[in-house]
Amino acid sequence: MRIFRPTTRFCLLMTLVLLYSACGKEKRNVEKVGIIPQPVEMEFKNDVFVMDEDTKISYPESFARVAGFFSDYVANLSAIRMEKTPEDAKNTIVFKEDSSIDNEEGYKLSVQPKKIIISASSPKGAFYAVQSLRQLMPVALEEGNYKEDGDKEISIPTVEVYDEPRFAYRGQMLDVGRHFFPVEFIKKYIDLMSMFKFNKFHWHLTEDQGWRIEIKKYPKLTEVGAYRDSTIIGHYYDEPREWDTRKYGGFYTQEEVKEVVKYAQERYVTVIPEIEMPGHSEAALASYPELGCTGGPYQVQGIWGIHSNIYCTKEETFTFLEGVLDEVMALFPSKYIHIGGDEAPKDKWEQCDVCQALIRSEGLADEHELQSYFIQRIEKYLNSKGREIIGWDEILEGGLAPNATVMSWRGTEGAVEAAKQHHDVIMTPTAYCYLDYYQYKEDKEKKEPLAIGGYLPMKKVYSFEPIPEELTAEEAKYVLGSQVNLWTEYIDSPEKVEYMEYPRAIAMGEVAWSAKERKDFDDFLYRLEPVLRRLDAMGVNYGDKNEDGEPLPEAK
Ligand code: ACM
Ligand code: ZN
Repeated sequence: MRIFRPTTRFCLLMTLVLLYSACGKEKRNVEKVGIIPQPVEMEFKNDVFVMDEDTKISYPESFARVAGFFSDYVANLSAIRMEKTPEDAKNTIVFKEDSSIDNEEGYKLSVQPKKIIISASSPKGAFYAVQSLRQLMPVALEEGNYKEDGDKEISIPTVEVYDEPRFAYRGQMLDVGRHFFPVEFIKKYIDLMSMFKFNKFHWHLTEDQGWRIEIKKYPKLTEVGAYRDSTIIGHYYDEPREWDTRKYGGFYTQEEVKEVVKYAQERYVTVIPEIEMPGHSEAALASYPELGCTGGPYQVQGIWGIHSNIYCTKEETFTFLEGVLDEVMALFPSKYIHIGGDEAPKDKWEQCDVCQALIRSEGLADEHELQSYFIQRIEKYLNSKGREIIGWDEILEGGLAPNATVMSWRGTEGAVEAAKQHHDVIMTPTAYCYLDYYQYKEDKEKKEPLAIGGYLPMKKVYSFEPIPEELTAEEAKYVLGSQVNLWTEYIDSPEKVEYMEYPRAIAMGEVAWSAKERKDFDDFLYRLEPVLRRLDAMGVNYGDKNEDGEPLPEAK
């Protein structure tokens, strides 16, 4: 005779009730949960997967790092410690290598009631699946609420996602020349980038106002070039100008650079260093005055703008730059090295015997062709070491170096011209991509916080279409992607960097990743709300209003 065991039945019933109520609760949440950037395809299934202390993780060795990233993330925020299991069993997070996914950054994410399957052809895709999964998990997890309540389960809505990026290049540039930011902040910045599936960190390391990377062959670059005696307060066009006369500066040691590069690699972010030439180089000239046309004296500048002291085209300059680039290449595995090329006034070259003699001996038409000669020589050197150059769109003037990628910033004309010449381009036009511009009208009116000027609300960033309409479909293939730039003349703290970057950079994340037809600004705003709560939990000082100074909308 079967023994009637009310307790077992009671337990089963209670489990069903709990599961039902969990489903009910999550069903309501499902509508609130979205992913930024918007995936290619995403379909919710009205159920939940519940992670608990028995949840396991399974992965091929090739995905060990990503799987570790995910299990560390969960372990840091909850009491769940996922053990590796060889089986594709129930209650498991399963990572699978799937060579049928063509795009190496693409992925499939299948959250089912009994397991979660992440498929990708490379760890990059699996990493982006993890970033999407993270946004499907409760915000309260990020807020630390699951840490206190040790045995809490984590409910995740069931969903089928297929995703891949529209563009292969999705960048953010940070200027550390005008103001210097510590390594710990650079890591946080990279963390945030990778959360929104950016994959290129353009690190603007040298400027008139400071040289920020240790070069062992040329120690004065950081002994002298990393520090300025004074810094302008307020705008450079203010009269009278006011100065802060404290010594200001700092630099990254090579060990710190290696740490940043490694940290970025673990998040599938390539660090592209920028070593400016021939302009924006006065900090280098202050360190080694013999590299200028006049011999100096030069100073590490305390004022912004365009400075006319640039590298002379003498042989010593090329020897110096090759020495610098040798150390840069040893530190940065990136295929691309950014060599600047922007805003180089030619007046010193016009008055310099050495530069003029070179124009004659090389049969060059003018100083623009001399700049082109300069850039081409550097390109040849870097190409000989297996690297490629990126330059700002001024490198078009006087003739483009044969293999150069053009970063189009003064509008999109440079991009159009370069793509028509069959050169790769990266889109960073000021009107859509310059996050040093004001994001709010009221900030602009109050001049608070002080910014360079301009006005670029998030909605305008979001509206950016990276493919210029002048290009044919064939020419459009030369557009690698887009990037937001943060110049830091008026940005002197990590908090201010975050305020200017976020949430506008997130809008660019969707521009660069999501399919054009999947973009919808209102929908983006609704998906943004839980993302901003995550940023709160991460201690990010983002701007929390819309362009009219009103609060951003609540999630649907
Ligand atoms: C630039 O904004 N000077 C590239
Ligand atoms: Zn010269």
